[in-house]
Amino acid sequence: MAREGARLAVADRAEESASATVELINAAGGQAIAMGGDVTREDDVAAMVARAVAAFGQINCAFNNAGISGRAVGPAGQRTHELSRTSFDAMLAVNLTGVFLCLKHEIRQMIAQGNGGAIVNTASIAGLVGLPTSAHYVAAKHGVVGLTKTAAMEYAQDGIRVNCVNPGYVATPMTKDTMEARGDEILAKVPMHRMGSPEEIAEAVVWMCSDKASFMTGASQVVDGGYFAA
Ligand SMILES: NC(=O)c1ccc[n+]([C@@H]2O[C@H](COP(=O)([O-])OP(=O)(O)OC[C@H]3O[C@@H](n4cnc5c(N)ncnc54)[C@H](O)[C@@H]3O)[C@@H](O)[C@H]2O)c1
Repeated sequence: MAREGARLAVADRAEESASATVELINAAGGQAIAMGGDVTREDDVAAMVARAVAAFGQINCAFNNAGISGRAVGPAGQRTHELSRTSFDAMLAVNLTGVFLCLKHEIRQMIAQGNGGAIVNTASIAGLVGLPTSAHYVAAKHGVVGLTKTAAMEYAQDGIRVNCVNPGYVATPMTKDTMEARGDEILAKVPMHRMGSPEEIAEAVVWMCSDKASFMTGASQVVDGGYFAA
């Protein structure tokens, strides 16, 4: 987004991660600010939007990407009847309620600005198909697809487009343990036989945020090395 000329407010619960991204952007001649904030807390989300607006005057695009895997909320490998209520709630709080809160405050701001906007939410291939031992993650990501479709319909007349990106397996800290445990088995199901890079997901997101995607809203864009086609 920075390469395309966007000025960026980068937020993460781990503020040092946001700062590291901002340093890269600013060192490359871009313009960005970092901020901390937890997407499960509505006050934090409202404050993040307010800080972005204070810094840059308005918000034209938003990318709601914060998320956690099942390993963050409980033991791996649990089927639905084994999941604790606590794990299920903790998953939904970040991966579904967090997206709702971001959408709510971003859209309020975009409506107040009166000149439309574009929002991309991160779902997953797990937002489109089931995935054994990930019922909480799958439920949250299917929820993101539903939120995306509904917001797209509600705000089309306001010129606000809302889409989601549905990545397959991407090499990030989130997938490190899983890939170490059963990477060969997973990659055997991916026609390209490799993981994606974060940059390959980012390219799709930047395009969806741009005016080049002007007729696209409510869509789930799979970027998965062919996984979903198989
Ligand atoms: N890596 C994959 O294979 C894959 C596949 C499909 C979808 N996704 C989704 O992509 C998104 C990014 O995941 P990633 O793979 O880069 O994982 P990651 O763990 O590397 O990054 C996730 C980021 O979200 C932040 N975060 C977590 N909880 C937060 C909260 N409550 N408030 C604010 N920030 C919070 C973390 O600090 C971290 O920086 C997630 O929504 C994930 O579900 C990832």
